Amino acid sequence: MKNRKRWGVYLMGVILALHTAGCGSSDLSTGNRSERPVSDEREQNGVENISVEDRTQVAAADTDGSKILIAYFSAGENSDVDAVSSASVTTVGGEAKGRLRAVADMIQAETGGTLFSIQTSVEYPGDGGALIDYAAEEQEEDARPELTSHIENPDDYDVIFIGFPTWWYDMPQALYSFFDEYNFSGKTLVPFNVHNGSRFSGTIETIKELEPEAEVITDGFTVSERDVAEAAGDVADWLRGLGY
Ligand SMILES: Cc1cc2nc3c(=O)[nH]c(=O)nc-3n(C[C@H](O)[C@H](O)[C@H](O)COP(=O)(O)O)c2cc1C
Repeated sequence: MKNRKRWGVYLMGVILALHTAGCGSSDLSTGNRSERPVSDEREQNGVENISVEDRTQVAAADTDGSKILIAYFSAGENSDVDAVSSASVTTVGGEAKGRLRAVADMIQAETGGTLFSIQTSVEYPGDGGALIDYAAEEQEEDARPELTSHIENPDDYDVIFIGFPTWWYDMPQALYSFFDEYNFSGKTLVPFNVHNGSRFSGTIETIKELEPEAEVITDGFTVSERDVAEAAGDVADWLRGLGY
């Protein structure tokens, strides 16, 4: 644990330096668009790499008019400063918003689903450095931040898109509170994520463990925080590839 923490702090220092040096700094690996292999792979392989199972499940849901929810957690909407001045903001179409909100809006534009912002009673620090430390403590304690927003009639929804940033190589603790609150048995869960180099970091497997009776789409959408503003095309490609 101590080694992991020390290694994590060192790496996080690197990410932090990149993350806070004007939000949208270049990411660790390549710094170019080839960072998002999923969509490029899909382009190269013409969608072949999406498992038949994934496509069949979503296509079935889509054609029978399933109700779609787009749930997301963004620090910018759970912060002690307003969304536009928090560390987690990007500008899409001239509008400043949290990155996860930006991707959620892109999914909504294609699917017509209902947006749902995961809100907690925690006011996360607006300052990038303080937020990094706060999140590390939450993770260390395996905390369950109290949720202050609740899905109305969760049973009505068949397909739930779940969006979250990678925090310390994992989902923010607020997502664990979210999965504790709802039983998504029989539902289709479609993960989407924003990161700064670690991509999903094994979180799709975690969601499968937390929701064993749900259909979890493994071909989730993940994008570097640097590329969010121009991700609309890739989001549309990804959704089409899944059968939307
Ligand atoms: C507390 C914290 C921890 C983070 N940990 C990681 C990480 O482990 N790996 C990574 O690739 N990015 C990490 N990041 C970068 C975020 O995933 C990325 O900035 C994302 O855009 C945040 O989403 P938001 O802008 O909607 O808040 C971290 C950011 C924060 C604030």
